[in-house]
Amino acid sequence: MFLPPALAALQFLAALQMVVGEAVAEAEEAEVAGAVAAVAAAEVRMNIQDRVGMGWRSELAGGILSNLDRIDVLEVIAEDYCDGSARLRALQSLARQVPVVIHGVSLGMASTVAIDHKRLGKMARLVDRIQPESWSEHLAFVRAGDIDIGHLAAPPRTSSTIEGTAVNLAAARAMVGSMPLMENIATLINPPASDRDEPTWLHETLASANASMLLDLHNLYANSINFGLDPNVFLARLPAERIHAVHISGGQWICNGTSKNSRILDDHFHDPPDPVYDLLADLAALCPNPLTVILERDGDYPPIDHLLTQLDRARRALASGRAAAGKPVPLHFGLAETVPVQKAQARRLS
Ligand SMILES: [Fe+2]
Repeated sequence: MFLPPALAALQFLAALQMVVGEAVAEAEEAEVAGAVAAVAAAEVRMNIQDRVGMGWRSELAGGILSNLDRIDVLEVIAEDYCDGSARLRALQSLARQVPVVIHGVSLGMASTVAIDHKRLGKMARLVDRIQPESWSEHLAFVRAGDIDIGHLAAPPRTSSTIEGTAVNLAAARAMVGSMPLMENIATLINPPASDRDEPTWLHETLASANASMLLDLHNLYANSINFGLDPNVFLARLPAERIHAVHISGGQWICNGTSKNSRILDDHFHDPPDPVYDLLADLAALCPNPLTVILERDGDYPPIDHLLTQLDRARRALASGRAAAGKPVPLHFGLAETVPVQKAQARRLS
């Protein structure tokens, strides 16, 4: 008869106690109990239901809809559906076919400026109509006063922005009815006036707001390479217990004439590089939560089969990490080709 390893170990412990009775030394009992706990913990990790999906893009609609058996979940950009009843009905239809999560890009939560309640109200109505499994936004600011950047920008990493983010997230939770998962963003410059590094700021911001995290692994990777951090150390310094969702994507090297000023641009026009998959395996080994992994692609769309292959690769990375159960996964950094900045896509998405 097959027994799960944890149950078999418990039965072994009971049988051992019957055979040797009170003679079982406390130390031996503790050792076996420890082994039981370890096996049980490993079983929990192996049974975690991770999911892998992709961002819904109209250019990919046909390929996605004909391959829903290979896509666990879809992520939809909120702003594409905040206006227009016809589009909303289409999204409701999609949500009846496949689990949907909603991703906002314009609220500007990480700011000392109060969140725009009109925009937040639109998000609240969308969440109410679609009833997604979760919704998310960025740890970024996009406007201040009358100036709208139209772009996700990294705020100064200070106690002021930590406090401002907590206030804005409390407002979001009150109006929408749930807290968004908060995503780390890519940046090409270290935010001026910062008094702490990015891992510290992320950790303190999430703790202050009691928020969960959508971890964009390419953003983590690009920022690490661009600013001289070790991606493994960056990942290890994040609160793994707060991470519930993941983005994977790709970018390209850009430079403005000198190698010293080269940067990785997170453009979503390329496949995730190998280190991102390595980081995903590493995260799966560290994180106790089921993970929803979304492949982001915003241009230069390849055939759908190519994207589905990347979903499969993400599943293998997750399985590898879960199996490792806490053992560090070595990373091998193979960087993409350097291209002049003028040839790079100006559009940056997180
Ligand atoms: Fe992202």
